[in-house]
Amino acid sequence: MTTVVSADQLSDLHRAAADLRSGRLVAFPTETVYGMGADAGNPEAVAQIFEVKGRPHSDPLIVHCYSFEQSTRFISPDTTEWQHRVYESLAKAFWPGPLTLILPSHPVRIASVVTGGSGWVGLRCPNHPVALSLLQECNVPVAAPSANLFGHVSPTGAQHVLSDFPDVDNLLIVDGGECGIGIESTVIRINADRSVDILRRGGVGKSEIVDLLVKSAVFDDLETAFGKVRIIEKFVIQQTDSSSLPAPGQLLVHYAPRLRTQMVRIRESDDSGVCELDFHQLAKTVVIDFAGVLKRLDGVCGFYRDLSVDGSSCEAAHRLFSFLRWAEDRALGDMDDWQIWIVNPSIISQIPERELLSAVADRIFRAASGRTAVVTFKPGSDRVFFSTR
Ligand code: TXA
Ligand code: MG
Repeated sequence: MTTVVSADQLSDLHRAAADLRSGRLVAFPTETVYGMGADAGNPEAVAQIFEVKGRPHSDPLIVHCYSFEQSTRFISPDTTEWQHRVYESLAKAFWPGPLTLILPSHPVRIASVVTGGSGWVGLRCPNHPVALSLLQECNVPVAAPSANLFGHVSPTGAQHVLSDFPDVDNLLIVDGGECGIGIESTVIRINADRSVDILRRGGVGKSEIVDLLVKSAVFDDLETAFGKVRIIEKFVIQQTDSSSLPAPGQLLVHYAPRLRTQMVRIRESDDSGVCELDFHQLAKTVVIDFAGVLKRLDGVCGFYRDLSVDGSSCEAAHRLFSFLRWAEDRALGDMDDWQIWIVNPSIISQIPERELLSAVADRIFRAASGRTAVVTFKPGSDRVFFSTR
């Protein structure tokens, strides 16, 4: 049976720490999203994470630590000096914070089920008081993926976790309120060949990483650093078995809401090749906008919300996952009749805070599984037309 406790009660935090130590699952808040935690040194405890989430075993888990010093225990003695230098520079600059560093894994202290057998471990120190005190008190490394069913939208509140896992034996959810950032950490791998791969975009951008690595003299100049720090672009495929992917978790069908989701943009045209949308379909369409670019659909569609009227990337990141879950909850009756239209991020590329916005755009792209559509307003007509691409 799932139990939710408040992070405000010290006795409940003690209980959560004790549960982690004894091999149970504890969901807890971080500054990015909620995590589903288990003792990373205990293979049976970690196995439960894969089981309850329905996650493929090939997809490695991030190990959460309360400090850089603690995290050093979990890397392989074979880690090169250069890898160590980059790791220390980045951890000291960005931890606690939304950055996961992947390094060769310690062969004994981290269960191989955590690394998906890859020999690499992702380490992260979250910037959240509840997460940090929990990690400190339990004093074990905590493996924690986002606390959602595999492939579903990540959770930014305790209720989201509860709604995906309403009835799991011995699952404790620590409610610490809404997550501040709202999208998952940036994931980077520090390679032995003196390069760095960004496997997932997040709260820390490439330019911040590059700047820091030049400042700490890891690279001689910005040009070299920009070449050596590469963003590994998403995998545009649809499959549920991730075993053949070089960057696990880069599936296109990721963060998918339960309603059919498309990225849309609006245009004004006399194009006769588009079909008129019927009223019933629009009434069962939930629109998620950004900076008012789809405003014309407000009042025409069933439900409408804007991620950030002011065009703030931070606000959009903070709200994206909870808005996707809100949209799911609008569907009454047959879910198949409903759809989500979300702003196509390509039209909002002029906004400042570009790096965070591209992390948001990445999630939108995946939520829509890459599907795009165009909504056409014919000049002089108040009817809405529609075409897919
Ligand atoms: O913000 C976050 O990172 C959240 C909070 C709870 O910390 N965690 C999270 O975990 O998003 P998860 O498992 O949902 O996503 C982690 C991503 C996955 O795509 C996984 O494949 C990748 O990081 N990853 C983790 N360890 C890895 C490793 N050793 N090698 C390659 N990729 C790894
Ligand atoms: Mg996840």
